[in-house]
Amino acid sequence: MKLKKILETVDPNLLRVFLPWALRHPSSLNHYMKLVKPFLDTLNLKREFKTKDILVPPFMILSITRNCNLKCAGCYAAAVGTLRNDNIKNQLNIIQWKKIIKEANELGVFGYILAGGEPFLYPNLLDLCREFYDRLFIIITNGTSIKDEHFKILKKLRNTVVMVSLEGEKEVTNERRGAGVYEKALNTLKKLNKAGVLNGISVTITQFNYKQWMNPEFIDNLIEQGIRIAFFIEYISSSPRDDVSLMLTSNQRAFFREKMLDYRASKKIYLIHSPGDEELFGGCVSAGKGFAHITPSGDLTPCPVSNVATHNLKTDSLKDGFAGDLFKLIRENEYLLENEGTPCALFAHQKEIKELAGKVGAYFVN
Ligand SMILES: C[S@@+](CC[C@H](N)C(=O)[O-])C[C@H]1O[C@@H](n2cnc3c(N)ncnc32)[C@H](O)[C@@H]1O
Ligand code: SF4
Repeated sequence: MKLKKILETVDPNLLRVFLPWALRHPSSLNHYMKLVKPFLDTLNLKREFKTKDILVPPFMILSITRNCNLKCAGCYAAAVGTLRNDNIKNQLNIIQWKKIIKEANELGVFGYILAGGEPFLYPNLLDLCREFYDRLFIIITNGTSIKDEHFKILKKLRNTVVMVSLEGEKEVTNERRGAGVYEKALNTLKKLNKAGVLNGISVTITQFNYKQWMNPEFIDNLIEQGIRIAFFIEYISSSPRDDVSLMLTSNQRAFFREKMLDYRASKKIYLIHSPGDEELFGGCVSAGKGFAHITPSGDLTPCPVSNVATHNLKTDSLKDGFAGDLFKLIRENEYLLENEGTPCALFAHQKEIKELAGKVGAYFVN
């Protein structure tokens, strides 16, 4: 089967976890099959643009809105200015987002990670997933704002995965995200399962919760509830105001990494661990290597925690942005994509990135 072969080539773990789910949801399997050709087409497009010295990433992260109903401790989006409510009028409207996604598709982007802010607060969000049905959408949500009308549409969409943020068990989640958020998030996961929407969890790993996630019973319990994907992203301190002490130490990171590799080999869950998985790609995959990011106002930045840009997509083309010196120089100066014992390469090289930004005439967004 073609889908099986592709999943195996991209990542054998995808096949192990995803195929049993798809077989239990035959209508989804049928639709996922329909994504195979567009996926192969994007590989050809990317190859073609590479010959013109334009590196197109497979994924784009879209911080779709500045709006958020929570105030989670240490949120990178708040720290880099994405959540600036005084600038809300400046955010892209749905027509502008559609124009950007259309261009990205023509360049060979296959997947979109919708974040923010809280994506489900953006009006008509799911129109994007519906219109671009031959692309994969992964929505990261705090799980408190998905309405019945969203569920009705999500049930029919077969190109959209919903990841709900959790910090750990009730006490830890509510401590960081606010009272009652844990209960709402779990309820959302339950409803997503009931609706047959492929779903998972997105966890920020800190000093306070990493041990909890190393307890196999805790993850087994979630898998039993139907969760099939987990993003474990180690806490990144993205501004001097943030609490650096939340970050794992190098020893803790190594300890946690071992557990992640163990889970990957033994648990029925598709797991992404950052920064650990970057080892497989020779360092950070921002700046167009694996993904790039667009702010709510249309600035093209190397990654969601970075606030430097040379192109704004209200007026500039994405193609020019990908071809620009900012991304190229970050990639060419390979040491900038090394983590240096922190969870984030761009965080580790803030001074150098600032200097490079000056050289290429970049501006600071938000
Ligand atoms: C910025 S949020 C946007 C989507 C949505 N509002 C939510 O909370 O799921 C995207 C993801 O980033 C995580 N996150 C927030 N601040 C972080 C930080 N400083 N380091 C690493 N991940 C962080 C959140 O927990 C969430 O899973
Ligand atoms: S819900 Fe998401 S965007 Fe909002 S404050 Fe929390 S982590 Fe940040």
